[in-house]
Amino acid sequence: MVHVRFSGNQPLAQPYDFHNIEGDPVYQYVYISNPSVGFDDARLASLLTTARAANQANDITGVLLFSGNSFVQCIEGCNETVQRLAENIRGDTRHKNLIVLHEGEVSERSFAQWFMGCAFIGESDLLKLAQAEWSNVATTAKNSTKTTGQELLCEFWSIFREGSLASTA
Ligand SMILES: Cc1cc2nc3c(=O)[nH]c(=O)nc-3n(C[C@H](O)[C@H](O)[C@H](O)COP(=O)(O)O)c2cc1C
Repeated sequence: MVHVRFSGNQPLAQPYDFHNIEGDPVYQYVYISNPSVGFDDARLASLLTTARAANQANDITGVLLFSGNSFVQCIEGCNETVQRLAENIRGDTRHKNLIVLHEGEVSERSFAQWFMGCAFIGESDLLKLAQAEWSNVATTAKNSTKTTGQELLCEFWSIFREGSLASTA
């Protein structure tokens, strides 16, 4: 199950005015990795605070799912910015064994309200994401369908959102 909500994990109240040039394709990068240092709540919160500020400055959106043993992160934005961040993330010594699940253009952002949403997710769900089909994304096509991996990621995120809305109701 997907659970636990972090402070600062709020969607944007208003649609954000992304500075992408209109018609610019959205680039998405999704990976799985294992932490190489202990990630308690405080360390995760600190990473998220820095990441969210940087992501907002760079028009990057996405989600980070964490099981305790593994991360799955999706970052999306303009091609160059996402590639630059992906390179930073690949070189970050706070995690290891990074495997890219998906990299390429998509027709729209999946997490446009989130500069980096974060949720705890069970390891078995996280493995489902790792084993899903990610590779057949149709690039740039307006009506491109999501791969099962992308659908699953959106589904886990919406389960988490519904759970967190219920818990604050
Ligand atoms: C699991 C994980 C997720 C991360 N997510 C982001 C992110 O969404 N945005 C970001 O700017 N940095 C993120 N970082 C931090 C980057 O790896 C890197 O520290 C940051 O881009 C600053 O790099 P710089 O000091 O070379 O500018 C993440 C790091 C880890 C370990």
